[in-house]
Amino acid sequence: MMRYPNVRLRRLRRLKGLQTLVRETSLSISDFIYPMFITYGRNKKDNIEPMPGMYRLSLDLVMEETESISKLGIPAVLLFGIPSSKDSIGSGAYAGNGIIQEAIRIIKHTNPDLIVITDVCLCEYTDHGHCGLIENEQVDNDKSLDLLVKVALSHAHAGADIIAPSAMMDGQVYAIRKSLDSSGFNQTPIMAYSAKYASSFYGPFRVAADSSPQLGDRKGYQMDPPNVTEALREISTDIEEGADIVMVKPAMAYMDVIAKAKIEFKHPIAAYNVSGEYAMVKAASEHEWINGEKVALEILTGIKRSGADMIISYHAKELAPLLPQNSSF
Ligand code: PBG
Repeated sequence: MMRYPNVRLRRLRRLKGLQTLVRETSLSISDFIYPMFITYGRNKKDNIEPMPGMYRLSLDLVMEETESISKLGIPAVLLFGIPSSKDSIGSGAYAGNGIIQEAIRIIKHTNPDLIVITDVCLCEYTDHGHCGLIENEQVDNDKSLDLLVKVALSHAHAGADIIAPSAMMDGQVYAIRKSLDSSGFNQTPIMAYSAKYASSFYGPFRVAADSSPQLGDRKGYQMDPPNVTEALREISTDIEEGADIVMVKPAMAYMDVIAKAKIEFKHPIAAYNVSGEYAMVKAASEHEWINGEKVALEILTGIKRSGADMIISYHAKELAPLLPQNSSF
């Protein structure tokens, strides 16, 4: 039997170089997608209190910010908009000159190589704060689809590189894929928020995007945290509907979901290291209870090790200088 004293696992830990040779997971800048919050106004860089280091940026500062993101080697951004006014149908989400549509144009004009991903949802744009259309005090799935399609098409027309539907309506990927294809956008990939849980970790984001539901919660459409088989069904239906990339969100408390999805499917997997996960690291690190940088690197490496191919993270900018870039061929 192979065991001590023949087996000594410490042999390969003795030198840094040996550890490098047997390292199984590598985190790189090329894995990251950096979220941005964009707002109206001039020269605005408003702190988001529960997310230290994150800002709501006005459109005139977007060019400079995305240049610095690109210089760091981060390949992609995920855009969220804060509109000037909200209504019951979230019309700001698909306005031709809406906040996100303007931001996409600025970025693709000034920094065409940066991949622009857009979140397709209504919650930042509706006065009730829900992700779809309300009918008889319920979020109506099928009526919401028409609006989400409008949002996705308006993003594609403005130049978005990847469309990311996040409203958790059944059939949203199919509806969006079909209309993108029939409108000349059959080359635009869909990154589906497939396994999106009704999580308390979204709290700081809802402060940032002013998108808390005014009545009730999102448990009628987002997933129940104890479920994993259901997550695999969500992912499988999104793949059948045409998703190019599937997402698990949040990441940290759901690494088992990422790991199972990696084994079950052959699709690229994105993991969303969400606002509450970021806020916890920042708060503990400000108290010097943990080393924030090291803890963040460990969390993100864990997310990668669990099977994520890419990670959406608010830590991307601060960690980029510490990380290597994937070599290109
Ligand atoms: C939109 C959306 C949310 C997040 C990303 N897209 C909020 C929500 O579903 O309530 C949360 C991201 C985060 O917490 O960092 N629906």
